Parts: sequence; C-alpha cells; structure tokens
Amino acid sequence: MMEMSRRFRNSALITLSATVLLCTAVDVIGKERHLEQIRVVLMSRAARCATCHIGNDASTWESPGLNLYGQRLGELPPDDTLADRIAAMERGPSASDSGEDRTRKQRDQDIDGDGVPNWIEVLALANPGDANDVPKQNRIERIQRVVRCNICHDQTNLPGKQGLDANPHNEFGELLSETTTEKKQKSDSSVEDRRRMAERIPILSRIESIKRKKPKGSKATYWEKLRLMRLPADRKDNPSPEGLKKFRKRAASQRSAKKRDPTRGMIDPAHNNEGFLQDAENLD
Ligand code: HEC
Ligand code: HEC
Repeated sequence: MMEMSRRFRNSALITLSATVLLCTAVDVIGKERHLEQIRVVLMSRAARCATCHIGNDASTWESPGLNLYGQRLGELPPDDTLADRIAAMERGPSASDSGEDRTRKQRDQDIDGDGVPNWIEVLALANPGDANDVPKQNRIERIQRVVRCNICHDQTNLPGKQGLDANPHNEFGELLSETTTEKKQKSDSSVEDRRRMAERIPILSRIESIKRKKPKGSKATYWEKLRLMRLPADRKDNPSPEGLKKFRKRAASQRSAKKRDPTRGMIDPAHNNEGFLQDAENLD
C-alpha cells in the first residue's frame, strides 16, 4: 500500500518536471524544492512538541494548546500536510506579491518577530513562538552556513552560465545526481541515463538510499554530518567523536518504541504526516 502511494507520488513528480521544462521561472522553484524538503526534515527531527504546542508533556494534554507558531500552522489549509505547511510558511513573498500578501508572508517567516526566522529557531532548539527565546549568534551562523544550496553545490548562480554549469555540484550533489533506487545499475547505462533516472526520484528517497555512505576518511555518514550541522562534502568540517556517539545513541533510542522520548519530533496521529516526510521515514 505504501509502495503504491509512493509510486503515485513519483509519477506525479514526473508529470510535474515535464511541465517545469516549459517554464524556466518554475524550474528554479523546482530546484529549490531540494533544499526546502531537507530543511523541513531537519526541522521535523529537531522539533519538540513544545516547538508548536504550549507545554511539552503530551501525557497531561487533553486538548493541547498551540503557541504562536503552531497557531499559524493551524490556520493554513488543513488538507496540506504539516510538513507542507511548515515549508509554505518559510517560503516568503514571491515577486508578484504586493501589499498585504507581502507583509503577511514576511511576518510568517518569523512569527514571533524576534528577528530570527522560524526555521533557524527550530533547528537551534529555540521556541519560534516566543520572542524572548532567541538562539545564540554562533549557533545561528552555523545553521546558516550549513543549511543552504552548498549542501550539494560548490557554487550557485555563477554569472554568464546556465543550469549545472552555473551551479556545479560538490561530491554529495554529484553522488545524489546519480543515485537511483534500482537495486542493480545496468552496467551499460551511461552517466546521462543514470542522471535522467535519478532526477525522477524524490531527493529524500535518494538520500535515504545512500544513508550509510560516508565521505572518504569520515567517521560520520553524509546524513549524520548534516544532522550534526556539518557540511556533508567538506572534508574539514566534521562532528566531534563524542557528538557523533551521542547522536547515534539518541537516534537508536528514538527508533525503539519503548525507549523513545515521546516529546521529541513531530510525528503524532493527530497530525497529517503523509507527503514528502515519508520519503525520509528511515532517516534518523
Ligand atoms: C511543527 C509544529 C508541531 C509540532 C512539532 C507538534 N505539533 Fe501537534 N499539532 C500541530 C498543529 C498545527 C495542530 C492542529 C491540527 C493541525 O492543524 O494539523 C496540532 C494538533 C495536535 C493534536 C490534536 C489537538 C486537538 O485538540 O485535537 C495533538 C494530540 C498533538 N498535536 C500532539 C502532538 C505531540 C504529542 C507532539 C510532539 C511529539 C506534537 N503534537 C508536535 C503542530 C505541531
Ligand atoms: C540535497 C542536494 C541539493 C541541494 C540542497 C540543492 N541541490 Fe540543486 N541539484 C541537486 C541535484 C542532485 C541536481 C541534479 C538534478 C537532480 O538529480 O535532481 C541539482 C540541479 C540543480 C540545478 C540545475 C538544473 C538544471 O536541470 O539545469 C540548479 C540550477 C540547481 N540545482 C540549483 C540549486 C539551488 C539554487 C539550490 C539552493 C536553493 C540547490 N540547487 C540546492 C542537488 C541539490
């Protein structure tokens, strides 16, 4: 059943990318989806119930109240998944928005108005709905340095060039651009064929299928580096051994139904947890 819904979503994606080819402006948005989805997965892993709710002890809740951030998410179309609503809130105004729309979308990006965007506060374990709770500056800078196009590209928007020539991949982007979920790679398939196949697979599914891969010389996998706010393809940017050990221990207990901390994460039967987050189901 789940396999089937995945396939449906994949074919929807194929139709989407065919449409996207007709319109360069939309193409850019399509590429930004890669970053957007990774960002929301990282947020969903860093979140606590208290990121959106008042109080953090679900066992005492009858009808859990929502803080400012949760309230705003609750106002967005309820048929959209929680992850899509989180992504929508971060998107900000588009060039064609004016007046009220522009102001509202700008306010949505930093709902408590403390000057730090919601997504950074969530990743820094600060409360995005409380203006008195602001992350430390060095934490903000670290998050900004890592969670951007540079996860996969050495550079973006090089002048005078187009497409990938203007946005060269680093080794992580290169790896993902050729990652298909096929068990066996046809030995005679060309790099172009592999890339065309890879492009049709959601980026999170691709990351999931290489989740055990490590950069040369690294103790941490590409994904573990990202979770620990290190640039996956930067050989010099590595988590400390203690940090990695702690992360693995916590990840293992979160995977266990008995040991997991129920106030971590944002998965709850009360939420709509469908959608692209399922592509990352098996990522810690
Ligand atoms: C990213 C924000 C976010 C996080 C994190 C989050 N929730 Fe929610 N939750 C919501 C929103 C928004 C609603 C309102 C329903 C909706 O719009 O989907 C809600 C609704 C609920 C409801 C139903 C409330 C009612 O009165 O019907 C329960 C129960 C709940 N959440 C439990 C949890 C638990 C337990 C956690 C922590 C594991 C959690 N939530 C984490 C955003 C969040
Ligand atoms: C998780 C890795 C990842 C992130 C993050 C990422 N990209 Fe990419 N990007 C790729 C891959 C892989 C491709 C090749 C197409 C594919 O396989 O999906 C690509 C292709 C592109 C292309 C070429 C499109 C074309 O077909 O001509 C552009 C432009 C681009 N990315 C820009 C960006 C920008 C701008 C950002 C930040 C907003 C970004 N990317 C973030 C992985 C990523």
